[in-house]
Amino acid sequence: MHENEEQTLIIIKPDAIHRGLLGEITHRFERKGLKLIGMKMTTLDENTLEEHYAHHADKPFFEDLKRFMQEAPVVLMVLSGIDAIKATRNVVGDTAGHKAEPGSIRGDFAMSVQSNLVHASDSPETAETEINLFFDDQELYEYQRNDFSAVFFDAD
Ligand code: RTP
Ligand code: MG
Repeated sequence: MHENEEQTLIIIKPDAIHRGLLGEITHRFERKGLKLIGMKMTTLDENTLEEHYAHHADKPFFEDLKRFMQEAPVVLMVLSGIDAIKATRNVVGDTAGHKAEPGSIRGDFAMSVQSNLVHASDSPETAETEINLFFDDQELYEYQRNDFSAVFFDAD
């Protein structure tokens, strides 16, 4: 792994599955040059959501958020790349879909605050915790994309 390479956790949320946007969203991360090193479909149970969203436990939207996240299966991904955490958050856009920049996933496809299609880790610490919560080591695949040096030329 390159010294500045980061891993980040993505959740393609139930609204994206309902709206048929899994391919569109995945395509945006792929063509940006982020490397897919883990991917699976699952349902999220109450306990897992309590842990993943523990920092939102005292927020008024917490119960609605947990209910929303169980409305359909989700797709979990781990993406890797130099500065992948910030780059991925930029691809995803502002939390509130109606305020998100056009060109971002939420800016192009979301109007809601809650139903905003994608989760992306927001720091190296949360990324590590979240990846460990959702993935076993043997579910993550280490390899180098053939286009690495072209995509990340002078990125570090
Ligand atoms: P995420 O964690 O999903 O990547 O999103 P984020 O950092 O942009 O937003 P965050 O503040 O961490 O909120 C987590 C998720 O909770 C839902 N939410 N609902 N109804 C509301 O006011 C409200 N606020 C947040 C969203 O699904 C948000 O992504
Ligand atoms: Mg967040």
